[in-house]
Amino acid sequence: MANLVTSSMLWLCLISYAYITIHAAPVWPRGRSTRFYDFKIQTMTVNKLCNSKQIVTVNNMFPGPVVYAQEGDRLIVKVTNESPYNATIHWHGVRQILSCWFDGPSYITQCPIQAGQSFTYEFTMVKQKGTFFWHAHVSWLRATVYGALVVYPKPGVPYPFKYPYEEHIVILGEYWLQDIVQLERQVLASGGGPPPASAYTINGHPGPNYNCSANDLYKIDVVPGKTYLLRLINAGLNMENFFAIANHRLTIVEADAEYTKPFTTDRVMLGPGQTINVLVTADQTIGKYSMAMGPYMSAQNVPFQNISAIAYFQYVGAVPNSLSLPARLPSFNDNLAVKTVMDGLRGLNTSDVPKEIDTNLFLTIGLNVNKCGSKTPQQNCQGLNNGTMSASMNNISFIKPTVSVLEAYYKGIEGYFTDNFPGAPFRFYDFVNGAPNNAPNDTSSMNGTRVKVLEYGTRVQLILQDTGTVTTENHPIHLHGYSFYVVGYGAGNYNPQTASLNLVDPPYMNTIGVPVGGWAAIRFVADNPGVWFMHCHFDIHQSWGLGTVFIVKNGKGHLETLPHPPADLPRC
Ligand code: C2O
Repeated sequence: MANLVTSSMLWLCLISYAYITIHAAPVWPRGRSTRFYDFKIQTMTVNKLCNSKQIVTVNNMFPGPVVYAQEGDRLIVKVTNESPYNATIHWHGVRQILSCWFDGPSYITQCPIQAGQSFTYEFTMVKQKGTFFWHAHVSWLRATVYGALVVYPKPGVPYPFKYPYEEHIVILGEYWLQDIVQLERQVLASGGGPPPASAYTINGHPGPNYNCSANDLYKIDVVPGKTYLLRLINAGLNMENFFAIANHRLTIVEADAEYTKPFTTDRVMLGPGQTINVLVTADQTIGKYSMAMGPYMSAQNVPFQNISAIAYFQYVGAVPNSLSLPARLPSFNDNLAVKTVMDGLRGLNTSDVPKEIDTNLFLTIGLNVNKCGSKTPQQNCQGLNNGTMSASMNNISFIKPTVSVLEAYYKGIEGYFTDNFPGAPFRFYDFVNGAPNNAPNDTSSMNGTRVKVLEYGTRVQLILQDTGTVTTENHPIHLHGYSFYVVGYGAGNYNPQTASLNLVDPPYMNTIGVPVGGWAAIRFVADNPGVWFMHCHFDIHQSWGLGTVFIVKNGKGHLETLPHPPADLPRC
């Protein structure tokens, strides 16, 4: 009894304390078990970089509203589409136990919500807490349709680290002056790659390095001596990014909404789809320090935005107009800096790492160039060697069907997908170095909507192997419906004889940046029935087909069976 009183009193203190200090947190969870949110997808006008344009957002906010919950809560989010475009919302990192219908990727688990329609997402944060985000999962709309999803531990459960003085959400993004829907259409029609973003943004703000954005700036005021928790989220479209704060060290305590052993570093790298929580102590002399977001570009010959977005980490008492100390970012191609952070990621609670494997899959990931098939090659074949760019897993470019895979599977409607996604490449060769770089004929991929079916409970290992067919590159591969243990990674071609695996304390993630010209090994138990997309979280690669789908069959009894679809499920 005494213990009970103490812990609930502690929690009360935490609640009232945090209520005051959390950035942009008007609705702090008060221990209710169901939380309702109303999302209106709307177009709004924004002024950035001396340009005014219409962007799509939620509730006229950019970034969109923060969704707060506690572990175990049920979230009910009614999404009304008041924009002229098709829309869906995906809850990135939420495992959606028995709620695949509400996962959100268009044409995988649902048809898009059409203009004027609505759809209510309902799911429970089963054994999950930490920093997540939500984003549109239709075309490239997530360029502006995104926001944070913050899930606190259950009442009375502390963080596994000292409670921070304050916490702040820091969302990294990419911003284009062009209309994103038009841009997507043009790029895909051109057969070539996308242009670089006009600017990077931190919580929607580019900061002083770009044209006329000196005042379009995000800033955290910090009290000397205090420790802050930053919830970093990369919501960018097509870039991986470094993040650093001038003169301050970052202690990673969580990655992809799972605790890690604390690891202190000068900078982190986040691919789109990744989240990292860091602790930062304001232990420097009073002043104004830059928080910087810059590029990590591991591919060859790809143009990218090289100007960093800047925000301020500003001490209370600093002279307001003083110059900020610049943050030191690694150079754009510093693969070692990426590896160092990855080496430091160790899971905190890893007792259930699968030690035995039932199904071992080997998936190559990479780009392709297909032969020009257009009568107007100048317009449509601007890829390498006058071909059209594409991307693939095991050399199959995933084509989204015209109804959702989940609906087709659930209702047994034939003709929308085939279950013959290969568990290994058709041909083994030197994937990293041996690909014929100059022959468009030999670098073509096949198109298909091929899925891999898994029996309920299968213990799966996936080897993800980067290819150099066009260029080697670090690809952020994201799996829906699961987190997975990253049990190994390395440079070059995967070799089971020499690969060393960490089955002791691997990080538990939902998005893995597969090392450039290297491989990663991930493991999970397929115990969540449904249809789950796995894809590169660069939208351009997703559009080019870098993805596949797992169908996990029902097990026994209703706790292992996907429920019926909701009545308001959108129609195609
Ligand atoms: Cu964050 Cu399929 O996506």
